[in-house]
Amino acid sequence: MQMRRLGNTSLQISAVALGCWPISGITSPDVNPDDSQRTLAAAADAGINFFDTACAYGISEGLLGDFLARSPQLSTSAVIASKGGLERDESGMHHRARPEDLHRQCRQSLRLLRREQIELYYLHAADPDVPVEESAGAIHELVEQGLIVAAGASNLSLDQLQRFHAICPLQAVQPAYNMLQREIEREMLPWCLSQQISACVYWPLLKGLLAGRLTRDHVFASNDSRPGYPMFQGEEWQKNHDLLDRLRPMAEGLGVSLTTLVVAWTIGQEGITSALCGAKRDWQINESAAAGNLVLSAELNQQIELALQERGAAVTRPAV
Ligand SMILES: NC(=O)c1ccc[n+]([C@@H]2O[C@H](COP(=O)([O-])OP(=O)(O)OC[C@H]3O[C@@H](n4cnc5c(N)ncnc54)[C@H](OP(=O)(O)O)[C@@H]3O)[C@@H](O)[C@H]2O)c1
Repeated sequence: MQMRRLGNTSLQISAVALGCWPISGITSPDVNPDDSQRTLAAAADAGINFFDTACAYGISEGLLGDFLARSPQLSTSAVIASKGGLERDESGMHHRARPEDLHRQCRQSLRLLRREQIELYYLHAADPDVPVEESAGAIHELVEQGLIVAAGASNLSLDQLQRFHAICPLQAVQPAYNMLQREIEREMLPWCLSQQISACVYWPLLKGLLAGRLTRDHVFASNDSRPGYPMFQGEEWQKNHDLLDRLRPMAEGLGVSLTTLVVAWTIGQEGITSALCGAKRDWQINESAAAGNLVLSAELNQQIELALQERGAAVTRPAV
């Protein structure tokens, strides 16, 4: 597994991380705690030491805390990332990123994760009612109090990131990034590179679409949130499947799964530190983790680039 430095800290994180949203079971169907524990164990066995969760991810922090409590060795080498500023209840997600909210949420995460310190703590998203400087100030206090090691921010514009960074030095950002969502390449990634800030990106598989196992006529379960996104609808869905048909022989040529190819492409892009790969089954994270041992040739990267150019701009929608 390729290991990379987190920002300018001394922490080393795996280039493939386990994203713990699917094991929360909030929008992914057929999830249960036993499968989730197997998924966490498979991730660790595959060399993943970087786990991404959030206070808004339901039971996932508790599942991760249980897992780490049973694996003292991993618990020491693990780099846990959590987030505050968004909270979830029966009526949905809510922005809550006032300083007192962030302090409360961080302490709750520490309790559920059963840790004395969280290695990386992000502002999950800007709260429209709170200046980003105020939220940044609270996260800086958490660093000073030793409750977190490094600060991060997710779903912020470049301007917001720069304002945050002026108050609280960032070690990581967490935007969406994948073959079909590459906006950050223009300004955000160059800025992160210039500041030694890691880009730990979400949706590398575009919520499973780029894993290629959802057939063109897939019928989504009623509690699966994906049909609500434009990339899973109508002409976009068909165009995305055409792209997958172009990529499949490339993966077959390497003897790897489409998932492995897609994640290897993601972590091979300039400025990308780690891909946060969601999984709800052990075999899924094994396929993503295999990308941590694969470097694509320049020729294959060119073929992928051509396929993406021919696919053209995709219609997508951010998570938050
Ligand atoms: N900061 C933010 O606002 C934000 C937003 C979104 C996500 N995130 C983070 O980023 C992580 C990744 O996002 P995500 O989990 O939503 O999406 P993702 O990693 O793009 O896709 C994960 C989904 O893909 C499918 N999958 C994974 N491996 C597969 C394989 N080998 N073959 C077939 N299907 C496979 C599974 O869904 P099915 O089996 O159901 O098809 C899985 O739930 C999250 O877990 C979370 O940690 C952060």
